[in-house]
Amino acid sequence: MRAEQLFDVSGRVAIVTGAASGIGLAMSDVLSANGAHVVMADIAKAQLDEAAESFRSEGRRVDARVLDVADLVAVDETIRAVAAQHGRLDTVFANAGITGGPGYTFPNGDMDHVSFELWDRVMQVNLTGAFATLRAAASVMKPRRRGSIVVTSSVAALRASHLPSHAYHASKAAIAQVVRVAALELGPHNVRVNAIAPGPFATGIGNGRLRSPEVAASFAATVPLGRVAQTEEIMGLALLLASDASSFMTGAIIPIDGGTQA
Ligand SMILES: NC(=O)c1ccc[n+]([C@@H]2O[C@H](COP(=O)([O-])OP(=O)(O)OC[C@H]3O[C@@H](n4cnc5c(N)ncnc54)[C@H](O)[C@@H]3O)[C@@H](O)[C@H]2O)c1
Repeated sequence: MRAEQLFDVSGRVAIVTGAASGIGLAMSDVLSANGAHVVMADIAKAQLDEAAESFRSEGRRVDARVLDVADLVAVDETIRAVAAQHGRLDTVFANAGITGGPGYTFPNGDMDHVSFELWDRVMQVNLTGAFATLRAAASVMKPRRRGSIVVTSSVAALRASHLPSHAYHASKAAIAQVVRVAALELGPHNVRVNAIAPGPFATGIGNGRLRSPEVAASFAATVPLGRVAQTEEIMGLALLLASDASSFMTGAIIPIDGGTQA
């Protein structure tokens, strides 16, 4: 079978949350470039509109929807509306996420400085918001007996590190476990649920700190490949999970981390 057929997503409808920047932007890019209709959802309206417009200017089928995934009612309404509008929903990337500050080796990153307000927001976005996204996607996919849901977790779900915050570790580990349970529950409905577990990617997260050479170097020191990733490097895995090339994959937490897990 040829790659174009194996990884075909043309004509499919996908939603990506956190689509205005970084990993979600790259996911939206690869899906729309390969013929999917992508609904890009993000809290940052200006950045979102700009990104969607740039894809549309290349003739791609892309919509922009302002959405805070911590607004659980809005998440449900948005996903149901997209499915109703298109009469289908094939893939949902629950990707939106925030760091909740730096890890304990950075100034004010130690546990004594953890703000419970920020802790709650991290949980609301990374855990509850991602679960609400997954749940709404599942509810429209189940009757059609088809669909692929992909949650962006993190290597911080798989092992502890001094670099991300306590809340970030907790939220990403918790959502990874939700993904496993959801895969069990949705398997009989032929809806697949997987998580990706990225290592350090140079994105806008944490005010873009991974783009600073010093911070990037501290992350790169933990990576066997010796560098942080560029956002384009998520594209292959995103296309795999959105397409039928991954038809027997569900319940997996897939590292994409330059070897960190080795
Ligand atoms: N960059 C990394 O090193 C790394 C590593 C592992 C996991 N991740 C995860 O990847 C995902 C994407 O992050 P990124 O690195 O591309 O960062 P990013 O900041 O470049 O992109 C995240 C996007 O999510 C949006 N967003 C934030 N809160 C939102 C909310 N409540 N509702 C809707 N959108 C919201 C932001 O506006 C932004 O456009 C996150 O879940 C993050 O935790 C990133």
